[in-house]
Amino acid sequence: MLATDLLGIAEVERVAALGGLDARTQSNLGQFFTPAAAAQLIASLPSLPSTGTLRVLDPGAGSGMLTAALVRRVLAEQPELSVEIVAIERDSAVLPHLQATLAECERAGEGRVVAESVEADFILDSTGLDASLNLEAQFDLVIENPPYGKLAVSSAHRTAMRAAGVDAPNLYAAFLALSVAALRPGGQVVAITPRSFFNGPYFGAFRSHLLDSIALDRVHVFDSRSTVFADTGVLQENVIFSGTRGAAPGVVELSVSRDHTDDIASRVVPYNDVVFPDDPNRFIRLATDADDTRVAELVLAQPCRLTDIGVQVSTGRVVDFRSRHALSGVELPGAVPLIYPGNLRDGGVLWPRPIRKPQWFQPTSDKDRAMLLPEGWYTVVKRFSAKEERRRIVASAWSPNDNPGEVAFENHLNVFHIGGRGLDEDLARGIAVWLNSSVIDKFFRTFSGHTQVNATDLRTLRFPSVETLRCFGRNAVVSQVEVDSLVKELIAA
Ligand SMILES: C[S@@+](CC[C@H](N)C(=O)[O-])C[C@H]1O[C@@H](n2cnc3c(N)ncnc32)[C@H](O)[C@@H]1O
Repeated sequence: MLATDLLGIAEVERVAALGGLDARTQSNLGQFFTPAAAAQLIASLPSLPSTGTLRVLDPGAGSGMLTAALVRRVLAEQPELSVEIVAIERDSAVLPHLQATLAECERAGEGRVVAESVEADFILDSTGLDASLNLEAQFDLVIENPPYGKLAVSSAHRTAMRAAGVDAPNLYAAFLALSVAALRPGGQVVAITPRSFFNGPYFGAFRSHLLDSIALDRVHVFDSRSTVFADTGVLQENVIFSGTRGAAPGVVELSVSRDHTDDIASRVVPYNDVVFPDDPNRFIRLATDADDTRVAELVLAQPCRLTDIGVQVSTGRVVDFRSRHALSGVELPGAVPLIYPGNLRDGGVLWPRPIRKPQWFQPTSDKDRAMLLPEGWYTVVKRFSAKEERRRIVASAWSPNDNPGEVAFENHLNVFHIGGRGLDEDLARGIAVWLNSSVIDKFFRTFSGHTQVNATDLRTLRFPSVETLRCFGRNAVVSQVEVDSLVKELIAA
């Protein structure tokens, strides 16, 4: 059999396996199988030795597509190399398809490929004192498309991971941590995962653990919300990355394509441009073109952190479903404005406006009153921008001139304040101008692949001096062109 046929056969098994899935199991076990073209891209990432035996682990192997793509590449490129594969899959319904794909891999390898399928839970069976799988430091390469799904704090999987020394808030993080442990020093991991662990506090402990264990070699990002898994209904920003266990950080190859069928543009950047050495949060930043680098340099050259200008940022205090008793759709005695993301418009706040939300907050207890902020100017930023919004960060200034008195901000907003009180008008407006600039939008996209804007993300940004911010704020700019030309004029962007 030609090695090229191998992918065709694996694709038939993939489609058959997908067809046999139970909808609930599919979602619980994160069963989204990689299409052949994407699998080829993933399998192209590791560097292959030319001789000897490559020991490969494929955890959460599904129908075996990744193994098939890797075997195809080895057979096509390295005639002297043998491969031994261990493919682990938990779902017995998928196992016959995995076994069929592995049998084809062995057949295509004509003695150079040995592949074993193991029905097991990769997390529970490889951790703990009674672990039936001993995988540690055994493999030259782990190739994986791990399952995605939040792990509840008390879940068996999360508990097992904590006992193994890693806090993994999602199944894919647990898989990655165990994969790295399964590598011998110098071994490589190649994975396709959501981009969400690259920034933000939620994955902070896991990200640190991963970056302590491997040096990134290559990161590929899909530019559009991914069509990679179009036939399985998954829509999210995915990355493919490879890293080497215990390697010294050197350079990283960054590449980008619209989807797995598109042309790839790539560049090599120093490791320190991807993970800044002085960044306590260790965000993984992707400046995929020269303009990204220019913008990153410009933002990082700004003199201030938020703390330097004496400003804090917190999420809005009102969680509406917990405060139903205090919410009202009409004005009531003692009620104050309750501001939602839907009230933000063109750098200002329109309140009330026709959105389907109760826009008054009537405190009836001390606990309710603690939700209010005193009269003042505040900069507010949406925590979740809509997908169709042009910018990821959408900022506005709340003006006490339009609505004097106390105000309440709903939890889907980030609020800039000074010790729980307002800012001066120019500063509040100026921060909104800076955050709404295209420079900040481009910079933000280098480290965040999702539409969520965490307070932590905002705290890590750099800001011009207070004088420059106030200068921004004194100008009545609304359109993107006006915002950008003002920023350009004042900081020589
Ligand atoms: C996203 S799919 C990817 C499958 C395959 N690697 C591919 O790329 O097509 C994840 C696979 O992991 C399996 N899985 C989920 N939880 C598992 C666990 N705890 N242990 C082993 N396999 C698991 C699922 O059944 C599913 O087949």
